[in-house]
Amino acid sequence: ESKKSTRFELITLTSWLLKQEQAGVIDAELTIVLSSISMACKQIASLVQRASISNLTGVQGAVNIQGEDQKKLDVVSNEVFSNCLRSSGRTGIIASEEEDVPVAVEESYSGNYIVVFDPLDGSSNIDAAVSTGSIFGIYSPNDECLPDIDGDATLDSAEQKCVVSVCQPGSNLLAAGYCMYSSSVIFVLSIGNGVFSFSLDPMYGEFVLTQENIQIPKSGKIYSFNEGNYQMWDDKLKKYIDDLKDPGPSGKPYSARYIGSLVGDFHRTLLYGGIYGYPRDSKSKNGKLRLLYECAPMSYLVEQAGGKGSDGHQRVLDIVPVEIHQRVPLYIGSVEEVEKLENKPSISG
Ligand code: AHG
Ligand code: MN
Ligand code: MN
Ligand code: MN
Repeated sequence: ESKKSTRFELITLTSWLLKQEQAGVIDAELTIVLSSISMACKQIASLVQRASISNLTGVQGAVNIQGEDQKKLDVVSNEVFSNCLRSSGRTGIIASEEEDVPVAVEESYSGNYIVVFDPLDGSSNIDAAVSTGSIFGIYSPNDECLPDIDGDATLDSAEQKCVVSVCQPGSNLLAAGYCMYSSSVIFVLSIGNGVFSFSLDPMYGEFVLTQENIQIPKSGKIYSFNEGNYQMWDDKLKKYIDDLKDPGPSGKPYSARYIGSLVGDFHRTLLYGGIYGYPRDSKSKNGKLRLLYECAPMSYLVEQAGGKGSDGHQRVLDIVPVEIHQRVPLYIGSVEEVEKLENKPSISG
């Protein structure tokens, strides 16, 4: 008799979010915020794919508060993210890598969530069409503050208070995720009940569920550091890295993989196991990555997947930011690999 064809049930991100809302895991407002973020990511995906066709490669000609030469797509993707969140009507405040200070979203009329984001991560890779991404985190609303209400890009004391309310520890995150713009466009999300990934089906422009409850391997022999900074690292870290290169009894040392996009390097680490690190060094005392919209969202995700996110001494999610663009060292990935680094006896005693 004919084999009953098991129709592969295509679950779109939209229908998955609605299911989570019906199950009471998220409320209707957060569902709308997440849906508007996925809309922004689809738009950025198409801008990235066509960057060299639409003359969107290269620099904008401005320097952001990080002191980085903004790429054209840094600016455009920041506008795409801000506009999508604004039109969702459920976002009260946004804090972005590309904005000096937190920005109040006037049109919000319910929900008033706080959304932090890196609109284009790894943007130095754009001109060479190497993977990039967007990273986001969502915190509960905090109605009593209105940042930068006079719009003069400086903060008076009331507005400064608002920065404090945006500056919440990652342990307060309600949801976090990223979209990776690579050979596939993959939206990875957690709303507190595991990590799920959705691949963009170019046939009809929808994110479809491709992986549920992703668990990072407990260990992995891949390390992802920019070893160009080796000479500027402390002795303990140098020893840790040297030991990874020791072939040991198996005769096989660790493999080095580093593409210079946190989203791409993290996604590979999440699926294959291993460790990604951006240490402090003699030049950058707190490393390079920003706590609020890079380290905390990624640490939230890796913990949801059974991994670990550390600054070398403490859990990233326990760190309370004091400044929205604050940087921290980041070591993230398989539990055994992060603990191997943390437990390395410090040579300087
Ligand atoms: P962004 O492009 O958002 O500024 O982030 C870049 C970050 C991160 O994506 C990447 O891992 C790291 O910078 C690469 O830094 P180096 O070029 O110093 O290795
Ligand atoms: Mn940047
Ligand atoms: Mn980044
Ligand atoms: Mn960025």
